[in-house]
Order: sequence, then structure tokens, then C-alpha cells
Amino acid sequence: MSEKTFKRILVTSALPYANGPIHIGHLAGAYIPADLYCRYQRLKGRDLVYVCGSDEFGVAIVMKALKEGVTPQEIVDKYHPIIRDSFEAIGMSFDHYGRTTTPTHEDTSQDFFRRLASKDVFNLKTDEQLYDAEAGVFLADRFVRGTCPVCGYEDAYGDQCENCGTSLSPAELINPRSALTDATPELRETTHWYIPLGDWQPKLEAYIGSHPEWKPNVLGQIGAWFKDGLRDRAITRDVPWGVPVPRDVAEAAGVEAEGKVIYVWFDAPIGYVSATREWAAAQGDPERWRLYWQDDESMLIHFIGKDNIVFHTLMFPAMLMAYGDYVVPENVPANEFLNIEGKKLSTSRGWAVWLHEHLEDFPPDLLRYALAATLPETKDADFSWKDFQTRANSELADILGNFVHRALTFAAREFDGQVPPLVNPGDFDRETLAKLAEFPARIGQSYERFRIREAVFETMNLARLGNKYFNDSEPWKTRKTDREACANTIHVSLQLCAALSVLMEPVLPFSAAKLRAMLGLDGIRASAPGGDPGATTGWDEAGQPLLQENHALGNPEILFRKVEDDAIDAQIAKLSAADAAEEAEPETPYEPKKDFIEYDDFARLDLRMGTVTAAERVPKSKKLLRLEVDLGFEQRQILAGAAQHFDPADLVGRRVIAVANLKPRKMMGLESQGMLLMSEDRDGRLTLLSAEGENGAVVR
Ligand code: 2FM
Ligand code: ZN
Repeated sequence: MSEKTFKRILVTSALPYANGPIHIGHLAGAYIPADLYCRYQRLKGRDLVYVCGSDEFGVAIVMKALKEGVTPQEIVDKYHPIIRDSFEAIGMSFDHYGRTTTPTHEDTSQDFFRRLASKDVFNLKTDEQLYDAEAGVFLADRFVRGTCPVCGYEDAYGDQCENCGTSLSPAELINPRSALTDATPELRETTHWYIPLGDWQPKLEAYIGSHPEWKPNVLGQIGAWFKDGLRDRAITRDVPWGVPVPRDVAEAAGVEAEGKVIYVWFDAPIGYVSATREWAAAQGDPERWRLYWQDDESMLIHFIGKDNIVFHTLMFPAMLMAYGDYVVPENVPANEFLNIEGKKLSTSRGWAVWLHEHLEDFPPDLLRYALAATLPETKDADFSWKDFQTRANSELADILGNFVHRALTFAAREFDGQVPPLVNPGDFDRETLAKLAEFPARIGQSYERFRIREAVFETMNLARLGNKYFNDSEPWKTRKTDREACANTIHVSLQLCAALSVLMEPVLPFSAAKLRAMLGLDGIRASAPGGDPGATTGWDEAGQPLLQENHALGNPEILFRKVEDDAIDAQIAKLSAADAAEEAEPETPYEPKKDFIEYDDFARLDLRMGTVTAAERVPKSKKLLRLEVDLGFEQRQILAGAAQHFDPADLVGRRVIAVANLKPRKMMGLESQGMLLMSEDRDGRLTLLSAEGENGAVVR
């Protein structure tokens, strides 16, 4: 952790695309960890601003609009409020939740663009790009699909191959086709602005090099980008939806401005600045945003999912450095992905748990806790409904809820609903209070290091301590035999409850408020905007007794109701139904039959029997295997996009059928001299086809 101390903190969560509701994968990546962190820092009394907003431009929005047959504006107007309201319902403590279609955002983005252009940061390049003459648009990013030049996957997007993860540009696709009309695009000349990230690499390497404390998953990804060498990135697009390229800049460059917009990954992170500006304006202090973005003593933290790492650690910092005056991110604690019931989350297949639906069935703190306890901080993690139930019942209800309930009902029954005085405390009482005193710093350290799961586990340890203390002190016995000891047990237990009501606040804000009402505890600093600015009791004070002797408690209530099996079974059934509907999909479970061909067309294929003699993964490729195949008459090196389906060791010795006359092709710098026949089922599982016959035998 860098030694620098900061006066204030600016926290951001990735701006979600306003093309669909929020699901638990989003929450586990960029939102739950950020919210816990912010609430903790506010309880510490730190000056913190937390911003987010809807990402409303980009091809993702346009694609959704096309699918629904409405305009992009209608899409964002539909999903922005759904997202905003579900975030509010789960207790996201944003100081401001904006959207990127506001005038402030257009202004901020254009200011960035203008300033960088005036500093000659950009390159202007004219080249040929794919154009769909039928739709009359250039095919940027996801508007075009085709075969991946790296792994041969036939449905790769123009910006990325989802099969092998390679980042692509549309012109690299083999057999490109328009995602809008399915037409084969033509090439047309167009001019775009590029940010030459390669020029920034030395500065970025020095910057990243000064942060060895960043998470290994983040540094690992950045290291791979550096090793490959950063390249120019186009930061404008010819699409009809986005922040317009400033006319003055276009004119000065002699480029027709009409139809040119700023690339969504250029404007989206600037959305954080826009949101901070809007927050400051709403505070009645419009220039106050500068303090958080432009003062050296401000610490900028971006919470994101792993697919956004390159933009937040390389592209946006380069933009901020190029602009000048801005701070750069102090940390980017990106999370990995969350699976559901052991399977990759997929919104298109219905394999998702939607936030707004979840909140119709369960109170928000249950999901906050279950997710915070299983965050994919270092590797992908799994959400299962059974685990959700166990967290709710065996941890929240049985440990935390139970302890609080026992202490409060005992005080109500035996001590008139008051905090009994602590008189001549015994060793166990004193030791327990001493242990309590250590909790704020211990949990706090985990939050400071972005180890949110650990912080939550430590928080629950305080409830575990309370339960054990209560059990071992046996107040139900001492109430008759030693009234003073009994009073001491309840006094200490209530102090533990009071501490818990503060320390559990980041993860369980709704229940913490409920617990404080039961304790009649006021004057605690707020963990969300809008609290009493005069409250001075917060995180650090929670280690010391917060309740006065004879303080009048409120009424005890159940803090957490158990989640019944029926409720969980219903959720599992819902998930499976979506999945089954997908699997039973009557229309085209497999791709439609291709057109008839002549026998001669088939005969042109030279299919041969062979044996795999060696197999290994291609370094740096997620999908590619390098195989050596004995075709009898010669040895071949064949690359297959199947690394996720086979263990190389299992392939050696396998009898295979190879296409022996496929023109050699280079992938990842290696020549592939053929292809192996495989079948692919509807879930994308590959099976290697095999047959009897000597190596080299002709297959017909
Ligand atoms: O991946 C996404 O969902 C993007 N909308 C995240 C944007 S983060 C930021 F830069 F605003
Ligand atoms: Zn690929």
C-alpha cells in the first residue's frame, strides 16, 4: 500500500450499460464491494464522494434498440430508472447517480476531446473500414461479426472474439457480415481520431510500477497488455448514437463532423467526472468537483469487473495524464466474475438472478451479505441458492440475529429494558471488552486493503464472539445465583450489540439501522449521504462501550427471518425453467441445414485418418491447442480452438480425421496445417471425431 495519505476519497463504480436491468454478476463485480468500502470510509469520518451512473451510449445500446424495434433514447429512458431504482433498493450509497446523456456529460466529454486534440495528443488516420451499404452505416465494434483470425471462431464480434478473448478490429475479421442486415460489407474510406497508447506506455509502466500493492489479477492483465505493446486505439466512431465529436475540432482537422461521435469507452469514464460535477452543482458549490479530481490529496478508486481493466488502468489514466491537472487512479480493485450454480452467468440464456426480481422476494441485506461473503476477489466465485440460504439462516439468523435477540430480550425481561451497570466485572467480561476494542481496526484494515470478504468475515466474528460470551457466561443461571455477574454479562453483551450495529453497517445497513432502533442508539455517523453532519461517533469509537448505564433500550424484534426451503426451491426452479426453455428451444437448436452441394464440391476435401502424437496449449491463448498429427505420409502441426474442451494430455494417441488440404494459416504466430473434424453440441461442447483406419487412409 502506498504510504501517501489523502485528505479525501473519490470512489466510482463502473457505469452499467442502460440496456438491461442489473443482475448479481454486476453487483459482485463493481457495486457491492464499492458500497461497503464507501460506507466504511464514511463511518471513519473520511471526506468521500461516491459516484456512478448509467452508461447510455455505445453499440450495446444501439443493438438493444434494434432488437426491440425502438430508438436508443427509448432504451436508455426505459432502463436508466430501473437500474437507478434497484440500486437504491439494495442500498447503494451513491452521492450521485447520473447518466451519460446529460448536457453536463456532453460538455465534459467534449472538453476532454478538445483539450487532448489541442495538445496534439491524437493521431488522425484515414483508412478503409467496413460499410453496410444496405443500412448506410459503417460497421464499428459489435455491428459486425465474422470469423476470428486467431482461433477460427465463426461468430466473433468486430471488437473482440468471445471465444478466444482476442481484442480485434472489424477489418481483421475473416468473412465479415453486418450484424444489422447480414449483408457482406464493403470497404469505404473514413477518417478517425486515435489515441496512440503506445506513446504513453513508458509513462503508464512507471505509473503502474509505482503500485505493486494492486491486486495480482489486475497487475497480471496489465502486464500482458504491456508485453504485447500498447497500440493506437480509435476514439471516434461513425455511428448515429454518442457524444458528437466537437465541430470546431473536426473543422480544424478538415474532417466532416456530421455523423462522427466519440467512442463510448472514451466518454464513459469521463462520466465519472460528469457525475461529480452534477453532484457538486446539486450541493450548491459547482466548482467543488475539482477538489476530488484535481487536487493531489484526493485518492481516486475505481471499482470494476475484470472486463473493464484495460480501460481503467491504461486508457483512462492516459487520458487523465494527457489532459493534465487530474489525479490518476490510486487503485483499481477489479473483481473476477460470478458464476451461478456452477455455470457461467448468461443473460441471453436466462441464467441470471436479476436484482429487481430478487428484491421482490427477499430483504436487501440478505443479498448484500451473501454476495459480500462470496465476492470473486481473486478468482471467479459461485453464487448458489443453497449457499444463499445457509448464509441467511446459519450465519445472519443463527449467529448475529440470535445473539442480538438473546441479549435484548434478556435485558427487557430481567433489567426493565435498560442497560444494567457494569460493577466489578470479572476477567471474562474484561477480556471480552478488550477483544471488542480490537475489532474496528482489524476489520478496517481489511477494508483499507480492499479485502471485502475478509472484512465481512471479521465482522461476523464479532457476533460469534458475542454468542460464545453469552453462552459461556450462562446468565440464565447467574440471574438467580449472582445478580451482579448476570448484569455484567448483559451489559457487555449489549455493548457488543451496539458495536455490531456500527461495524455491520457497511454490509447490512438496513439491519444495522433496525438494531440501533432496538438499542435506542442515536448519534451514530451516517454511512450514506444525507446523515446528521453533527454526529461524531463512528467506526473508531465502536470499539469502546457506546451505551450508558441505565440507558433505555427500544423494543426487541427479530432481526433476520429464516429463508424457508420453499422459497429457495422456487428460485432454483425459476432458474432451471429459464435454462430448460433455452435447451428445449424448438426453433433452430442447431444451425439450419446448408444448401446442397455437388459431389465434386465434397470431393475437393482431402480427409485423412491420423493420430495425435503431441499436444500442448498455445502460450497466451485461452482457446488454442497446438497438435502434432501423424497423417502417415507426413507430420502436420494443427492448431485447434479447443483448449477449453480437452486436456492436451488426453489427446495424445487419439485417432482423428483431418482435413489435409486446407490452406495453411497463421494463428498466434504459428502455422496451422490442417483441421481436425469435431462435432459441436448446442452448448458448444466439442467432441473429436474418430474412426478406424491407418494413418493416411482416405476418408470419403
Ligand atoms: O462494461 C460495461 O458495462 C461498461 N458500461 C462499463 C463502463 S465503466 C466506465 F468507464 F464508465
Ligand atoms: Zn478467437
